[in-house]
Amino acid sequence: MSTFNPNIPFETAKVRSSSLRSQLNYANYLYYVKNTSKITDFEYDAKMEELRGIEKKYPNLVTGTSPTVRVGSTPSKEFTPLVHPKPMTSLANAFNADELTVWYKRLLKFLGTSQCDLVCELKLDGLAVSLVYVNGVLDRAGTRGNGTTGENVTANIRTIKSVPLQLLSDNFPALVELRGEVFFPHSAFEKLNYERKAAGLELYATPRNSASGSLRQLDSSETAKRPLDLVFYSIGEWSDDQVKTHSQSLHQIQKWGGKISSWTKTVSTIEDALDVVNDATRLRDSLDYDIDGVVLKVDSLADQKSLGIVGRDPRWAIAYKFPAEKAITTLKQIHINVGRSGALTPWAELEPVMIGGVKIKRATLHNREEIHRKDIREGDRVIVQRAGDVIPQIVGIVSRDLDTIIPTKYVFPTECPYCSSTVTDSTKEIIARCLNAKCPAQFERLLQHFSSKDAMDISGLGERMAQELSRRGFVKNLADIYSLKTKRVELENLDKMGSKKTDNLIQSIENSKNQPIQRLIFSLGIHGVGKESALWIVEKFNSIDDIQNASISDFLLIEGIGPVTAELIHKWFQIDSNRDLIKKFKSAGIKTIYKTTNYGSSKLSGNIFVISGRLDSMTRSEAYKKIAAVGGRTSNSVSAKTNYLIAGENPGSKLEMAKINDVPILQEKAFIDLINKVE
Ligand code: IVH
Repeated sequence: MSTFNPNIPFETAKVRSSSLRSQLNYANYLYYVKNTSKITDFEYDAKMEELRGIEKKYPNLVTGTSPTVRVGSTPSKEFTPLVHPKPMTSLANAFNADELTVWYKRLLKFLGTSQCDLVCELKLDGLAVSLVYVNGVLDRAGTRGNGTTGENVTANIRTIKSVPLQLLSDNFPALVELRGEVFFPHSAFEKLNYERKAAGLELYATPRNSASGSLRQLDSSETAKRPLDLVFYSIGEWSDDQVKTHSQSLHQIQKWGGKISSWTKTVSTIEDALDVVNDATRLRDSLDYDIDGVVLKVDSLADQKSLGIVGRDPRWAIAYKFPAEKAITTLKQIHINVGRSGALTPWAELEPVMIGGVKIKRATLHNREEIHRKDIREGDRVIVQRAGDVIPQIVGIVSRDLDTIIPTKYVFPTECPYCSSTVTDSTKEIIARCLNAKCPAQFERLLQHFSSKDAMDISGLGERMAQELSRRGFVKNLADIYSLKTKRVELENLDKMGSKKTDNLIQSIENSKNQPIQRLIFSLGIHGVGKESALWIVEKFNSIDDIQNASISDFLLIEGIGPVTAELIHKWFQIDSNRDLIKKFKSAGIKTIYKTTNYGSSKLSGNIFVISGRLDSMTRSEAYKKIAAVGGRTSNSVSAKTNYLIAGENPGSKLEMAKINDVPILQEKAFIDLINKVE
């Protein structure tokens, strides 16, 4: 039996600790991935104890792949952003066999073939994560976030016992990104809630919530106490891609020691796929984790590539979603919300009801036509459905046949509940709209949208403040926000404001002037222009002047913008009051030019930097901020367009790419010098 010898010399400790690490990591793999074991718990604990002893005596010997790191590390204050090597896309949904068949036929047509193999996987209901291994060692891990950038949860992911800290087998790629789902087993979920109840803590509603809560603990030693698990479902980025099919990638992940689902099946026809989906439906209740459907993926990677992505979803994959969960409750009242484009959206206030572990108090009623068609009335008993993250919906009403009191028919308002203007005629359009461009509710929503996190990000200007500013006449158009500093005293005197909050609001407004132009374009609330299309627009036109002068056909040249949106954008910029608004934004000093001129003075403006490997003196996100501050841009992959490759420790395949493309290579010190030279 191995025990720690406190007098162990350094050289012996080095060899011994390395051997112990391998033995323990392998034992861990057998236990948590393969569900077998070759050593007893007693032996495992003794070896672990010995390794801890050595690492305590010689802290230099601790490595990121040591099983001792699984207990977590020092708590952090916040999660830093982590840019994924490749964006993490989402999936289109299908809710029945017909939709799956349509999807399959469409992809066959696209590929010009009569048959295509599909891989069917369980759709785990947890959280998507991306793990990057550099030279076989787990380097970083992030949540999905917005698909491009997530939160760096490396320390927390390391605590998950089935996650390889080091890939098995020796031919490691320089870099490989593995993607998978983190989840919380049912059995452990009940135990966790029991303990939380005893400790007087709030209970988690679902295993998915507890997976999310556990993964996002700032203190990773807290995560380490939670029995999270991770199943890999794909390879993202791979520096020396060897495989031809998705099923081979899964097999490769398994060879590297990663856990994959043993249920996965490859089929050759859509009929077989539908059978497999039915099998999964039956299997659902017997599993110790939540699944919310089956994911079907085209097996051939070449076919995946040619099918590509449409919008946000790949054409080569689809999620069949199990039918949603339902419950019956009473509809207390119908409320009307007026959106920033004037649409009157009804919603139902419900007698709270639990569905799938979540308390539901509201449901959407979509539009007046929906209420009319389903004859939904205040006081009705209604069937509410909830599916995943989708807003709960009312499927229908429970028959009123046995009711003694029949609720009266609901009459949809013919006037805007905020400004009393007549709303659009129900015979002409499904959606009722308030057409009053000066409707205060619309303007309040627009104001709220303008300052929201993804738009100009003005903190302190949320729903309530937007109402105050508009109702008191402090802000009559969006540009008025930028002269609020002249109304300091009035702001300070607002309910619950005071001097500190006023300072913060004014500062936040000032800061927003430096937001990149794509955010300004998104903030304007032009119908059909989202975060992504705003960026496409500024990438194409570079400045607000050019956007203003563009024709409908110019907008149509942007991939992803169709004729309806092109016309709406064009129209927006032709309206005098909007042109006036743009003038005011400019004189307030808001950025209205894309990229280079934003940072006119900097020699590095527009230069593209790629970082490879780990930096010593700063985190990646700090480096990204420094680059942005001098007007540079960052990219995840090296091409002939890259201006600098910053090589940190273990730089990996990007360094090779930089050499091939004659890209100047900067060591960390040279990078810092370069940045510091730019004023
Ligand atoms: S593949 C293009 N496979 O479902 C491929 N996703 O609705 C994108 N998920 O964000 C993902 N099990 O969190 C894939 N076997 C599986 C999955 C799976 C669960 C989740 C994942 C993703 C979401 C998309």
